[in-house]
Amino acid sequence: MGTSSRYSPPWGDASIIGVAGGSGSGKTSLALAIVASLNLPWVVIMSMDSFYKPLTPAQSKKAFSNDYDFDSPEAIDFDILVDRLRDIKQGKVAEIPVYSFEKHARVEETTTIYSPHVLILEGIFALHDPRVLELLDLKIFAEADSDLCLSRRLVRDIKERGRDIEGCIKQWFDFVKPNFHKYVAPQREIADVIVPRGIENKVAIAMLSDSIQKTLHRKSTLHQQELRRLGQIAEES
Ligand code: C5P
Repeated sequence: MGTSSRYSPPWGDASIIGVAGGSGSGKTSLALAIVASLNLPWVVIMSMDSFYKPLTPAQSKKAFSNDYDFDSPEAIDFDILVDRLRDIKQGKVAEIPVYSFEKHARVEETTTIYSPHVLILEGIFALHDPRVLELLDLKIFAEADSDLCLSRRLVRDIKERGRDIEGCIKQWFDFVKPNFHKYVAPQREIADVIVPRGIENKVAIAMLSDSIQKTLHRKSTLHQQELRRLGQIAEES
């Protein structure tokens, strides 16, 4: 990692990376591939699914008949997300809700994130809210063909999320597809990097990994300078 062999994790300045993209575009796989290529401890993936708002009984009824719009930013509790991201950025411990796609609701338990060096935030609206954008060190948009997205989503929703084929197709054409064009695709404009072909794109993954490592090194150098200024570590000989 550069000229200095010393690495001082800047606990008070976690690197946060946003990975946006359509449903089924491979955001999670891309995030996992970045984690694997970084080969560092303290890297955590946080899904925006955790921040879907609780539904009223009437909304829940609609959700079970595939009539509720989960693809508008309105469906996400950005206030809590921003709160948690700010805590993580500052090295604080953060309690994260756990979401059940089968129940369309948060479950009782939460999960705890302990001050990672790198946090990857993945979700269809990861690059949507200006307060989130302010906290991001790197903004990625995962690009994928819409046929591929739909087929991946059908398989996943039926196998893992307790859905049926008719409901999935209805939800796709009523909400997922139109809102992709309205809200998800415009995030390309704000992305630093657009990654086509997901995890097949080894060159992009290596470049992203390299860029994240450089950011960590830069933060570490600044942190060491600050510690030296405060007299908490000795000058390097
Ligand atoms: O994992 P992925 O990015 O595909 O998750 C986002 C998708 O989850 C949205 O497109 C939304 O339609 C879907 N969703 C759902 N049921 C919920 C919450 C979200 O089908 N209860």
